[in-house]
Amino acid sequence: MNKVILLSGSPRPDGNTFQVLHESLKIIESQGVEAELISLAGKKIQSCIACGKCAELKKCVLNDGVNEIIEKIRNAQGFIVGSPVYYGTARGDLMSLLQRVGKVSGATDHFLSWKVGGPIAVARRGGQTSSIQEMLMFYLMNDMIIPGSTYWNIAFGRTPGEVLEDEEGIQTIRRFAENVAQLIKKIYPEPVS
Ligand SMILES: Cc1cc2nc3c(=O)[nH]c(=O)nc-3n(C[C@H](O)[C@H](O)[C@H](O)COP(=O)(O)O)c2cc1C
Repeated sequence: MNKVILLSGSPRPDGNTFQVLHESLKIIESQGVEAELISLAGKKIQSCIACGKCAELKKCVLNDGVNEIIEKIRNAQGFIVGSPVYYGTARGDLMSLLQRVGKVSGATDHFLSWKVGGPIAVARRGGQTSSIQEMLMFYLMNDMIIPGSTYWNIAFGRTPGEVLEDEEGIQTIRRFAENVAQLIKKIYPEPVS
């Protein structure tokens, strides 16, 4: 069955980013595509150390849980990333993870190619578009396919759960999730049983 991995880059296990991604998960599942939501809360993600060992190891040399996430992404057709905005940028450890995933993909079998997805950014007041642009660099340089929506994938909220009150933001992100699922079904049609 086709599958989408959704990754929350917030340290708050039930924060706004997680909740927005959970809304996306429900939409994807309603389209008949499997979905799994992973949170970076409690994880200590290191930055790429530029050792180049991924080419021979076929995985990252660092053992902090990123290789397990890489395997989940490798086996999925879709990959959606959500980040809280910190000082107008995506969270640092999330970007470190994306850089390592991209490096392992490029140094091995380019498993990211043709995966469908894109970034979502959540903030109290501002900085979502610059954060989305940062994360888009990962998607666009790794041969991935990004559908649009009715607005950019941004939403507003400060305290956990507040984001669900941003009606337009949630509608935009639900439509994006629907587009990801629809595109996956077109690109990877499953045999009718
Ligand atoms: C260190 C830090 C920096 C932040 N920087 C911004 C910012 O630049 N713009 C903004 O609107 N909100 C900023 N916020 C607020 C968060 O983006 C907001 O609370 C968001 O809902 C957090 O998402 P989460 O619940 O998924 O962790 C910042 C929060 C923290 C902890």
